[in-house]
Amino acid sequence: MEDRPLEYDYSVTRLFMMNTIFVGIVGMLVGVILAWQMAYPELNTFLGEGLAEYTNFSRLRVLHTDSVIYGFVLSAVWASWYYIGQRVLKVSMAESRTLMILGKLHFWIYFAASAIIVVSLLMGITTSKEYAEFEWPLDLGITIIWLLWGAGIAGLIAIRREKTLYISIWYFIATFLAVAMLHLFNNLEIPTYFGSGGIGAWYHSVSMYAGTNDALVQWWFGHNAVAFVLTTPIIAMIYYFLPKESGQAIYSYKLSLLAFWGLMFVYLWAGGHHLLYSTVPDWVQTMGSVFSVILILPSWGSAINMLLTMKGEWQQVAASPLIKFMIMGSTFYMFSTLEGPIQAIKSVNAIAHFTDWIIGHVHDGALGWVGFMVVAAIYHMAPRLFNREIYSKSLMAAQFWIQTLGIVLYFTSMWIAGITQGMMWRAHDEFGNLAYSFIDTVEVLHPYFTIRAVGGTLYLIGFIMFAYNIYKTTSAREVEASELQNASPMGA
Ligand code: HEM
Ligand code: HEM
Repeated sequence: MEDRPLEYDYSVTRLFMMNTIFVGIVGMLVGVILAWQMAYPELNTFLGEGLAEYTNFSRLRVLHTDSVIYGFVLSAVWASWYYIGQRVLKVSMAESRTLMILGKLHFWIYFAASAIIVVSLLMGITTSKEYAEFEWPLDLGITIIWLLWGAGIAGLIAIRREKTLYISIWYFIATFLAVAMLHLFNNLEIPTYFGSGGIGAWYHSVSMYAGTNDALVQWWFGHNAVAFVLTTPIIAMIYYFLPKESGQAIYSYKLSLLAFWGLMFVYLWAGGHHLLYSTVPDWVQTMGSVFSVILILPSWGSAINMLLTMKGEWQQVAASPLIKFMIMGSTFYMFSTLEGPIQAIKSVNAIAHFTDWIIGHVHDGALGWVGFMVVAAIYHMAPRLFNREIYSKSLMAAQFWIQTLGIVLYFTSMWIAGITQGMMWRAHDEFGNLAYSFIDTVEVLHPYFTIRAVGGTLYLIGFIMFAYNIYKTTSAREVEASELQNASPMGA
């Protein structure tokens, strides 16, 4: 290994980081609009009747989900990869011209594809498969973007100086392989235009699968998109950033091994829990439920490993808002990975399915676990990317509390709304007549929708504070790297 410190190249990291913040604001703003629209449906035409086609709930919902998942979260994952990868493999991207070109292409093709995706979704062009809405030309583009990332991973690993692959690298590799497989199989589709002499638009396609098979493949994909976009890369991030920021070594290497392989083995079988009481074979449903409950073990394995990493150092959690984000993130991870398995039990799912309780579950994971870890990762990286101290620690602390309050309002209102809905839909009299009409439930839910919208707005306000803090950080006085290193016990 060389004596002189390596000059890491962060140009690609910076691009992805800026994109994370920009798309985060847009995607969450759309989420907030959706939340207010559910409470006040007249907001579906908030830009006037003429533009209603673009502002109604159904067009905006897909823009929200795809922009937060594939825009905000994936950008953060890639910003982290281009940062963590170089550091733990002890190699700089600048050492290889090819790697630099691959990294830049990765970002710019992704950026261009994202812009086209936004336009296409607003125009209502979708395959109608949730989280896989893009038509075939865009699917091909996504394949190219993914391969560029994969080539970058392989290239960096190939020229590494550090022989041992740190646990974060395993999780990044797992993310790459699993999403590649999910994307390819779920998006096997036949363009209608070429097949039948011109039916529909040139970009239109139909799935290779039909009926129940289509549903099965779609939810095998959908569930694992959660696993390998909203979970494994985020675990990769926390395994690096928490020890770095706290100066503590990971509590147990053995536990990290067990949790990794447990997660890999179990996650792929649990997708059936999205199709309980449907036409998929009964054994598939039961397998989905059983594997979901088993999934608590590897999920909690990672989360407990994180919490125990802070053993004896809890004063740091009190003192550092950045560590608070990570510890609260792990706690929300435990929370949503207990809630999910409970919802996967058939009798519970009979009440929970189609209700707002599921939306609550989605967001305690997405806002509490994923959102907080993204924020923590950027707060950790920004000073090292720009050689500047974080602009304001007190703003960071205020953001933490505002966003935590926002999440609590979001999920508690959705729990109450969801369980109320589920119970009202199934209530009946002694002759089997339904006790309530659908609109009765909608009326009961109105206050909870408003509380959720307030919670979501708070979360967005916190995120804008974060963007401001980072903006001020990037434009502050530059400090020596050595000064910064002192800010973190394990160094930059
Ligand atoms: C042990 C881990 C987990 C299990 C067993 C699990 C289980 C479930 C179940 C049973 C549903 C409801 C299916 C339905 O009736 O519609 C669901 C939905 C969902 N979960 Fe989880 N969950 C887990 C962790 C997570 C985490 C950590 C996140 C996010 C960060 C997450 C995101 C989602 C999303 C986005 C949906 C909604 C999918 C849709 O219908 O569009 N889950 N999960
Ligand atoms: C300010 C923050 C946010 C607000 C106010 C918000 C609001 C909403 C609303 C109102 C919906 C539609 C619910 C429905 O159809 O009943 C929704 C869906 C969804 N949101 Fe968010 N959201 C926010 C942030 C996020 C983030 C950061 C993520 C992911 C990282 C996310 C992932 C999702 C997903 C996956 C769905 C679809 C859930 C399903 O189909 O079951 N959201 N969001």
